[in-house]
Parts: sequence; C-alpha cells; structure tokens
Amino acid sequence: MAPALLTTIDETRSLLDERRRDGATVGFVPTMGYLHDGHGSLMRAARAEAEVVVASIFVNPLQFAASEDLGDYPRDLDRDRELAGANGVDVIFAPSVDEMYPFGPVLTAVSVGELSTAWEGASRPTHFTGVATVVSKLFNVVGPCRAYFGEKDYQQLAVIRRMVADLSAPIAVVGCPIVREPDGLAMSSRNVYLSPADRAAAVVLRRALDAGREAAAGGATDPATVAAAMTDVVTAEPRAELDYAAAVDPDTLTVPDRLGSEARLLIAARLGRTRLIDNDAAPVGPAG
Ligand code: PAJ
Repeated sequence: MAPALLTTIDETRSLLDERRRDGATVGFVPTMGYLHDGHGSLMRAARAEAEVVVASIFVNPLQFAASEDLGDYPRDLDRDRELAGANGVDVIFAPSVDEMYPFGPVLTAVSVGELSTAWEGASRPTHFTGVATVVSKLFNVVGPCRAYFGEKDYQQLAVIRRMVADLSAPIAVVGCPIVREPDGLAMSSRNVYLSPADRAAAVVLRRALDAGREAAAGGATDPATVAAAMTDVVTAEPRAELDYAAAVDPDTLTVPDRLGSEARLLIAARLGRTRLIDNDAAPVGPAG
C-alpha cells in the first residue's frame, strides 16, 4: 500500500501521537529522497522492529554549502513513495523548507565538536552541524523509539550516535550495513551524476578499500601503511582525484599511533564533478 504522505509537522505529530497512545513503537528512517536500495535496507530493518515505520524525505539546505549541489540534488517523490511503500514504510514526512525553517536561518544549532571537523568536515565545515540540527528537529517531530542510519555515511552515523548520547535523546540509533551495486560501488543518490566513464572508474573506491583491508589483514599496524595501500590504488586511476584515504579508530575516527584489532577505512574521491565517499571495516592481523 502507498504510504501516507504528510507535509506538515502538526499532522505528522498528531497521527504519530495517536499511534503511540495505542502503544505502537515508531521506527524512523531520515532521508533526502531519490531513494535506492540502500535506503530500502534501512526501511526493511525498521519494518522488522517497529509497528509504525516513518521515513522523512527532506533535502536539507542547512547541510549544503553555497557551492554544493542543493539546487540540482535529484528528486522524484512519486518514485520514492513507491519504493518506500514496497519496503514497508507507513508514513512519509516530506516537509517544505518553509515548514522546517519558518523563521529562515536557524539561531539554534547542534554541533558535535571534533567528530564533525575531520574527514568530511574538513572539506564541508558546516555540513555536520546542518545534519545534526535537522536530525534533532526530525526526531522532535517524529518521536521515534529507534532511528536507522547507514554505515555508508560512517562519520554521520558516529556524529548522530554521539549527539543522541550527549543530549540523552530517548532514541536507539541503529547502524545498517552498506548496500552496494554488483561491481562494489556503494549505492548513493549522487551516483546518477556520474558519466558512464566515471561510473565505470568509480569502482576504484571499492578496490582501494580492498587494498587497505588486505594490508591490515596482512598485519600492517601503522595507519600510514594502510592508507598508502588505498592511495596507490586511487592514484593509478586517472579519472579519480583523491580527497582523503585513512585508517582510523572505529569509534573516535582519529588516526591512532598504531591500529588496534579493528580499524575503519575511510575514503573520499572526486570523479568528474561528483564527490563519492565509502568506508569499510578492516580487521588488523590474520583472522582468528
Ligand atoms: P541520504 O543521503 O538520503 O541518506 C539517508 C540514509 O540512507 C543515511 O542514513 C545513509 O547513510 C543511508 N544510505 C545511503 N546510501 C546507503 C547505502 N548504499 N547503504 C546503506 N545505507 C545507505 O544521509 C542523509 O540522507 C542526510 O544527511 C540525513 C541523515 C537525512 C539528514 O538530512
């Protein structure tokens, strides 16, 4: 069945208040739309655990810098409604910018300190404050018991987990694995921007992560050695321009002096005008 499509905060609150009064648990999947199976996997995870599944579709201006792709971020609400329905979503909350930010620029923002400044935050300094602020607002509108985020945006997941812990928000944050195309490219709404040649070359991110995993599994405990293994793969692909490749502590996202038993590999590269990110877990040393 097609999900209910609600555009105002008031109607969303009153529908969900009623369901909560009946004892229903609410699972929530925040998105910016142009849905793919990565989003679908979060919706299915929510469906399996909650009685009411809500997805939001909102391209949040606050998390885009002036130079970024806010204006041409892909949108297709009809198709999104279909995909959300097929993955068990009951309610879509798709507010306008005015509905979310009726006073224009916010005076109140949520900043998650140094978790927000490295990696994605280095090239997008206002990004995570925009994300944390809108996710707080969405949590306040939807009132979920559980909220689902993809590991695809690993730093975002860390930022949201820390925000929820720091603010004692009564919400369980559930991280879900990355869904990939058959050739290994992580699904992303932004993949539609890629030219055919850049799309073919984009698999270099997955190959770089594989090289990093191999170096870590081979016992490399120096994060620079693992990062160099990833960098070498990307620099060999002329269509790709590396932004960063790093092996970090999975919780703090900082580069340790020596890697522990498990590292997280982070990578970002530009293909044409499209900036792609990916990441993976990397056990350090031989398995078992
Ligand atoms: P968006 O990019 O639409 O992603 C919505 C959610 O889907 C995020 O939690 C993201 O990590 C997850 N996701 C995207 N691609 C995925 C994939 N290939 N596999 C698994 N999960 C995937 O992230 C945002 O929107 C926004 O920043 C938002 C949190 C909605 C705040 O505006």
